[in-house]
Amino acid sequence: MRRKSDRFKYVARSCKEILDIYGEQEDGIYYLTTTNGMKYQTFCDMTTAGGGWTLVASVHENSIYGRCTVGDRWSSQQGNNPNPPGGDGNWSNRNTFGVVESATSDDYKNPGYYDIVAKDMSVWHVPNNFPMEHWNLAAILRYHTDNSFLRLYGGNLFSLFKQFPVRYSVGSCSDRGPAVPIVYDHGDRESTRNLYGPRSRNEFDPGFISFRAINNERAAMAICSGVKPRGCNTEHYCIGGTGYFHKDQCGDFPSFDWDRLGREQGWSASKEMTESAVLLFYR
Ligand code: G3P
Ligand code: CA
Repeated sequence: MRRKSDRFKYVARSCKEILDIYGEQEDGIYYLTTTNGMKYQTFCDMTTAGGGWTLVASVHENSIYGRCTVGDRWSSQQGNNPNPPGGDGNWSNRNTFGVVESATSDDYKNPGYYDIVAKDMSVWHVPNNFPMEHWNLAAILRYHTDNSFLRLYGGNLFSLFKQFPVRYSVGSCSDRGPAVPIVYDHGDRESTRNLYGPRSRNEFDPGFISFRAINNERAAMAICSGVKPRGCNTEHYCIGGTGYFHKDQCGDFPSFDWDRLGREQGWSASKEMTESAVLLFYR
């Protein structure tokens, strides 16, 4: 077996290349290199559905009570404000933040988010603060897409969100982005439904990952993980977003606590969902 330090010598743009070119099949941290030659480290999932999945980001809610305050990097850290309408803009820029081992304890975004040209996505919901070696087993929900949908949108989320801007008042509730069917690796449609609030369950279909949802107040959200919205109260089950919401809703998990944190009543998502980071992978 190769020593872990040997992983430094590989020149690869993605975990898929590490798997295909160098034959590495062990889950863990590898070095990747961007098109411009910048090296960075991230976690490779080399086992799920054939492996080769690159962790590119995590969305972590540091305080469900914060309303677009510090730590709400995927919406806005600038307060609940229509100026700028795109909040911090991190869904469609080249900013990076966090480190891979802290991906369940804080927001994370590496250069792979915009540099890798991928076909599919995998998503893990991992309880906050779990260490990397337990992410896979600890996850409350894991799934992936298998229809190469990213090809239609430029190969990554950076490009997809240029086509579907996460921006306040960019459109109305009917102007949603794509909803893509998912294959479950842990969990199923029923368990997905139950991660969100009882009232939310009446306005989405489980078994999908959806992009750029818009709610009644014309706030945009980036990702509805595990579901396809039918209704317009997407702030209770979609994450990330613009910098302007109803005053009680702004944040990375915008209004997962509308009927109080973790009560699983009304529109409130379950405590386990609210207290898990959302890890985003490409392949
Ligand atoms: O998204 C829920 C919000 O619009 C208010 O709903 O029924 O609790 O007044 P309700
Ligand atoms: Ca609402």
